[in-house]
Amino acid sequence: MKNVAIIYHSGYGHTRTQAEAVRDGVRSVPGVHAALIAVEEHADNWEVLDTADAIIFGTPTYMAGVSAPFKAFLDASSDRWARQEWKDKLAAGFTNSAGANGDKLATLQQLALFAMQHGMVWVGLGLLPGNTTSSGSAEELNRLAGFLGAMAQSLTDLGPEVAPTTSDRRTAEHLGRRVARIALGWQGPHRAQRHGGRGDAGGTGMSAALTDPDPVTRAEIERTLACYFDGLHHSDTGLLAQVFHPGAVYATATDGALTRLTMDEYFPVVDARPSPASRGEQRHDSVVSVHLAGPVTAIAVVTCTIGPKHFTDLLSLIRVGHRWQIISKVFHYDLDTTEEPTPCPT
Ligand SMILES: Cc1cc2nc3c(=O)[nH]c(=O)nc-3n(C[C@H](O)[C@H](O)[C@H](O)COP(=O)(O)O)c2cc1C
Repeated sequence: MKNVAIIYHSGYGHTRTQAEAVRDGVRSVPGVHAALIAVEEHADNWEVLDTADAIIFGTPTYMAGVSAPFKAFLDASSDRWARQEWKDKLAAGFTNSAGANGDKLATLQQLALFAMQHGMVWVGLGLLPGNTTSSGSAEELNRLAGFLGAMAQSLTDLGPEVAPTTSDRRTAEHLGRRVARIALGWQGPHRAQRHGGRGDAGGTGMSAALTDPDPVTRAEIERTLACYFDGLHHSDTGLLAQVFHPGAVYATATDGALTRLTMDEYFPVVDARPSPASRGEQRHDSVVSVHLAGPVTAIAVVTCTIGPKHFTDLLSLIRVGHRWQIISKVFHYDLDTTEEPTPCPT
């Protein structure tokens, strides 16, 4: 099953009529599901948009561009842009306005450029222009002769029950059907996609399986790591319980045998030891590297010191519910023999 999301704004109902026609076109293709989203509800529908194989954007043309509520949604997608989460998804657009021309092309261009910023793959209307000969008529498909997307006209004294015209609705339906058919054969981007903005290892010398996180993702992961360091320094298991996933594992073999703890076993160990902060220890926290295996999967290498032990931690992180958490902590430590050894289990 492929998923096509149609997100639209409509101040007075006409563009909604056009959006419903697009949806009907998507639905007419077996094996493709259509989700129709009013832009006012975009905040509740990020997951639908993120997991869609294609997104079709629809807005009335207001003042020669997309409407203000639609622009607010476009701007709100900038965190997706930063992570290139919609890269290689299909995209298409439609617009409706009062004038036959009405500067609709500018709106479609704005939508297409937006999709390009996201790295999406734009699907045009794929129709020859209608109503271009003396034997033609305004009943023909694509009577407004657009190529970039579906155009519609709604005369201002007509309600959304009758405007846009039948021809414009059929043109909108055509767009939905075309995107759905292409989606059926499209290898979902977000499945095969390498995450991290540049789309590959970017010449960093690391394996192609790992990428550098974009700045937003890096900052999110570093926030989790900062809490991890704070939790260790203050022996604050309340903080550590936020940082670690409840199902996380803790493992080391540095002592020659495997020590493997659940969080229920690990936190009491931390609670039982005097915190490095209370012993006045200097902090030597450092993030050596952070790499992504995918949009919600990361590996961080960090170092820190507790008493005479210098730790190198391999932290696997996952992003669940817009929050990065450590799912496994595998570590090695070296003893600083120049210091008086202090018994301090990690
Ligand atoms: C603020 C505003 C600006 C508009 N600007 C244009 C325009 O630039 N070109 C045009 O042809 N129609 C323009 N219109 C008319 C609308 O595009 C038209 O009424 C459309 O059908 C409204 O769609 P809706 O009912 O989905 O909101 C404008 C309407 C509004 C309210």
